[in-house]
Amino acid sequence: MKLLEQRIQKDGRVLGDDILKVDTFLNHQVDPELMQDLGEAFAQAFAKYKIDKVVTVESSGIAPALFTGLALHVPVIFARKNKSLTLPDDVYTADVYSFTKQTTNHIMIDHRFLNRGENILLIDDFLANGQAISGLLDISHQAGTYVVGVGIVIEKAFQKGRAILDAQGIDVVSLARISNFENGQVVFATE
Ligand code: G4P
Ligand code: NA
Ligand code: NA
Repeated sequence: MKLLEQRIQKDGRVLGDDILKVDTFLNHQVDPELMQDLGEAFAQAFAKYKIDKVVTVESSGIAPALFTGLALHVPVIFARKNKSLTLPDDVYTADVYSFTKQTTNHIMIDHRFLNRGENILLIDDFLANGQAISGLLDISHQAGTYVVGVGIVIEKAFQKGRAILDAQGIDVVSLARISNFENGQVVFATE
């Protein structure tokens, strides 16, 4: 998506070898008009599927997921993160290890919000190592729902998340694909 690539070039900051800071429009301050465009792009990309619900993880997935749900006219569910070891028993849970932060979060979704046989679309802000999406796939499996696809705002194609999802035959759509960082600049994948 050209508009998003241009925004990343203009406002993104590369930190170290592998982190892109986009807190002026996505991860801290949020640009609602851009989010609406992203939501519509995801709705269009997955238009061939019947989708019952959009599912993401708090907190940075919520903005793009919400506008995707708006465009598709379906509810949006965000998995909640829980650091405590005691979990309620009426929830589906998965462990999500963050390589970036070197911590494990439990994510959870209440049983009431996923019903067996439903088609769900997963949305997230970044695809890096794929741990967050893997956690949502685990929860979807527990709930008996079917993941029609995964929509990612910014994919870092040089990390291993994309390969993990491709190996499972999942339909992944990334609105911006970064092939690498070069001298502090973002290089987008060309295909
Ligand atoms: P993974 O889910 O693909 O495995 O990602 P990883 O563990 O590497 O990332 C952990 C957190 O860091 C996630 O946010 C993820 O969105 C974020 N992240 C990964 N790479 C980047 C990056 O290059 N730039 C930015 N800004 N964030 C990145 P989270 O812990 O779930 O936090 P939240 O922001 O959703 O609350
Ligand atoms: Na995220
Ligand atoms: Na994040």
